[in-house]
Amino acid sequence: MPITLRTASTLTQFLIEQRRRFPDARGEFNALILDAAMACKAIAKSVAYGALTDTLGNHEEEEGGSINVQGETQKKLDVLSNDLFIRRSEWGGHLAGMVSEEMEGPYSIPSHLPRGKYLLAFDPLDGSSNIDINVSVGSIFSVLRAPSHVAEGAPLSATDFLQPGTEQVAAGYALYGPSTMLVLSVGTGVHGFTLDPVMGEFMLTHPDLRVPDDTQEFAINASNARFWEAPVKRYVDECLAGKTGPRGKDFNMRWIASMVADAHRILMRGGVFLYPRDTKDPSKPGRLRLLYEANPVGFIIEQAGGRASTGRKPVLRVQPSSLHQRVGLVFGSKNEVERIERYHAEPSKAEAEAPLFAERSLFRC
Ligand code: F6P
Repeated sequence: MPITLRTASTLTQFLIEQRRRFPDARGEFNALILDAAMACKAIAKSVAYGALTDTLGNHEEEEGGSINVQGETQKKLDVLSNDLFIRRSEWGGHLAGMVSEEMEGPYSIPSHLPRGKYLLAFDPLDGSSNIDINVSVGSIFSVLRAPSHVAEGAPLSATDFLQPGTEQVAAGYALYGPSTMLVLSVGTGVHGFTLDPVMGEFMLTHPDLRVPDDTQEFAINASNARFWEAPVKRYVDECLAGKTGPRGKDFNMRWIASMVADAHRILMRGGVFLYPRDTKDPSKPGRLRLLYEANPVGFIIEQAGGRASTGRKPVLRVQPSSLHQRVGLVFGSKNEVERIERYHAEPSKAEAEAPLFAERSLFRC
């Protein structure tokens, strides 16, 4: 039987072909994406070596502290991955600065290096609580345009990054699973690349990914059920009621606890993910970070025909107020996300019975 040779495009070829649509483009954007991809390849390598190298476990105090700006324990691989993103992306002259889930403030491109017109926001290793148990983790990144004064040399500040998700020029993630994949949107749909570990190249294996409009699968951390707001509780109760409930069909449930891995499953076969606003910690209006997680994943899901929301409004329309802002996040198959938004918009039973305390009443603060 003859062997068929599969000759998929490389990531570089894909980017060059995309660039042909913009005859004035100088290649900076492509170089930036290739640098981010290079960082992901280096992280994939470190993740894959697992316990064979000294990269598992928590980052030690004596090496600079083990709690990040989010108040979370940093893993050695969180720190390493953050460093790889910076070193691989700072030198090329296409960036004016970076922000990361692992750093308190913005990182300016050092003065001995050329400054460019883009900004990079990233979560170097999402789901890092899964590293030590060999479950999939990933990196997430978002590309924004730098305000012109910054691209021209004015000092960089946190405010320069506080742009709504609709302003993203590109977003992507790498998933370090059984195979390493890079999923990318440059605003023309969503495309998946699989790393050929021998050639060291990301090959286009999943062009034009689309999230199905309907699903029978949901993802939520059910241990938070007692903190959920009424619309989320209603939605999950209805899914759990299955065929005998108001939805008239059975649902399946999955929770990987690596948002990037849950997002990938939804991109491949549909589903809905919820990490909604809840009452667990009133100082945090959600678990996930707007700039490093919700916006890039929201951009990808919407580019693939799905929907991403806070439950109350499209997440990409949220005006960020701080770098490490958290937000409630619901994304995935369009019809399910719209249903969850509808449940949030409908007055609750209690409000309907006591209209003076309803959403738009005088007594609501
Ligand atoms: O960064 C946040 C994260 O690790 C996500 O990747 C994941 O969805 C979530 O936290 C898991 O949260 P929990 O521990 O509450 O299940």
